[in-house]
Amino acid sequence: MYKTVNLLVVDDDESLVKVFERVAKEQGLTVALCRTGVEALEYLNKNVVEVAVVDINLPGYNGMQVLEYIKRNQFPTETIMMTGVGNVETAVNAIKMGAYDYITKPFEDINKVVVLINKALERYRLMQKIRRLERQSSDQISYEELVGKSRNMQDVFSTIDSIAGTTSTVLVLGESGTGKELVARAIHKRSKRKDKPFVVINCAALSEHLLESELFGHKKGSFTGAISDKRGLFEEADNGTIFLDEIGEVPPLIQVKLLRILQEGEMRPVGGNQSKKVDVRVIAATNRDLQQFVKDGMFREDLYYRLNVISITLPPLRDRPEDIPLLSYHFLEKYRKKMEKEVTKISVDALQSLQSYRWVGNVRELENVIERAVVLVNGDTITARDLPPKILGDAFYLTSDESGDSSDLSKFDYQEAKNRALWAFNRSYLSNLLRQANGNLSSAATKAGMDRSNFKKIIKKYNVEIMEYKRKQGGKTTEE
Ligand SMILES: Nc1ncnc2c1ncn2[C@@H]1O[C@H](COP(=O)(O)OP(=O)(O)OP(=O)(O)O)[C@@H](O)[C@H]1O
Ligand SMILES: [Mg+2]
Repeated sequence: MYKTVNLLVVDDDESLVKVFERVAKEQGLTVALCRTGVEALEYLNKNVVEVAVVDINLPGYNGMQVLEYIKRNQFPTETIMMTGVGNVETAVNAIKMGAYDYITKPFEDINKVVVLINKALERYRLMQKIRRLERQSSDQISYEELVGKSRNMQDVFSTIDSIAGTTSTVLVLGESGTGKELVARAIHKRSKRKDKPFVVINCAALSEHLLESELFGHKKGSFTGAISDKRGLFEEADNGTIFLDEIGEVPPLIQVKLLRILQEGEMRPVGGNQSKKVDVRVIAATNRDLQQFVKDGMFREDLYYRLNVISITLPPLRDRPEDIPLLSYHFLEKYRKKMEKEVTKISVDALQSLQSYRWVGNVRELENVIERAVVLVNGDTITARDLPPKILGDAFYLTSDESGDSSDLSKFDYQEAKNRALWAFNRSYLSNLLRQANGNLSSAATKAGMDRSNFKKIIKKYNVEIMEYKRKQGGKTTEE
C-alpha cells in the first residue's frame, strides 16, 4: 500500500536528519527520510508526500532537480528548499520554480523551521480542499470514462488522481462488472505514460503455456508451432502500462516470472537464454479474494505484496444507488446515439425499480439492461415496461389485491399479461417454499418435486434470494 506522509526530508547530513526526525515526532507528523535525490524521486513516485524539505546540495541528483521533478509531474507536494548561506540566489530561483519557501543552514532557530513546515502543511491541505471543491463544482461526476457521484466513487477518483503520476503497481479489486478495467485505463491516461501503449491481457483466458508465451514472447523453435520469434506483451507494453486482468488465475510458474519482472524489471522469453529489460507499469485486477488465495497456497505471498503496493477497491453497484440514475442516463446517451433513436428520458418509476434492484452483475448488468430498453422503447421515454421482469419488484406484476384479482393485467396484451402473472406466481411460490424450508435448498426442492439443480436454476431465474430465508434462523446459515 502506498503511504501518505506529512513530511519528507531529503538531506545527506545525518545530524540534521536526526533533528527533523525528532521535530516530526514532537509535532505528531509522519516522516520519511531520503539521503539522495534519486532516493527521493523513487519515494515520491511511490507515495504521496504533503511537504518535502529538500537540501539543494545533494550528491548526484541535486535539490533543484528534485523540485523540478515534483513540479513537472504535478505532484501536490509543497517543497521547502534548504540552502547554505551565500547561496540565496539559487533559493530565490527555486521559489520562482514553485517551491513554497526556503531556509538557510545552519538553522538559527529550529522553532522557525517548525513554523514554516506547519504553514506549508496548512497550504497543502488548503490546496487539497480547493482541488476537491473544484472537482465537485465543475460537476466532476465523470472521470475519464468512469461515471459516479457517490462518495465511494469520488474517493476512487481522488485515489487515481494521487497515484496516477507514480510508477507504482496497482491492484484493482471489485466484483465482476464494477469497472476495474476502466479504472486501469484511467490510471494509464492520467499518467506520464499516456502516449505509450496500454496493453490488456486476460490471464484466465489462456492455458498456462499460451499465457507464458503471450506475456513474455518466445523464440523460434522453442515449441511445436513456434515458427518464428515472437515478442511478448511485456515488450509491447515497454514504457507503457500492462493490465493483467484476472490475476488470481495465473498459474504458479508464471507467478514466478511475474515476480521477477516486478522485482528486477527483467524477463526471459520462452526458449530464450537471455534476459531482457523492460520498463512497464503493472496494473492487475481480480474479482477473487486474493488474500484467501494466498492463505490457500494458490497465490504466492511475495507476488501478492509486490502487486498490492496500491490497491483500489470498487464498491458494488448496489452499495451506491445514488450512482444508478447517473449511470442509466450515461448509457442511455451511449445507446441512443448508437441506435439513432430519439429516446432522451427515463421515467421515475423505471428509475426507482433500477435503484432498488440487487445488481449482482453490477454496472455491466445495468448497461445491458439500458441497452435492451433502448432497443425496445417506443417514444422518447424509457418506462418500467421496457425493463426486464427481474428488475421490477413483484408489486409491478400483480395488483396488490390479496384475493389474486388480476384484472389490472387486462391493460397488457395477452403475452405480456401472461409473463407477468407467471412471474408473480413463481416468485410467491418459490419464496413460500423457501420460507417453510428455512432456506434449505434441498428440502424446498423435494417439496416442489424437483431435483436440486433444476430448482436452483429456477430460483436464480426468478431472482429469489435464498440468503433472505436463511438469515431468519437466528443468525446462523446452513451451508449445503
Ligand atoms: N463507473 C462507471 N462508469 C461508466 N461505465 C462503467 C462504470 N463502471 C463500469 N462501466 C462499464 O461497465 C462495463 C464493465 O466494466 P469493466 O469491464 O471495467 O468491469 P470489470 O470490473 O473489469 O468486470 P470483470 O471483472 O467482469 O472483468 C463496461 O462496459 C464499462 O464501460
Ligand atoms: Mg474486466
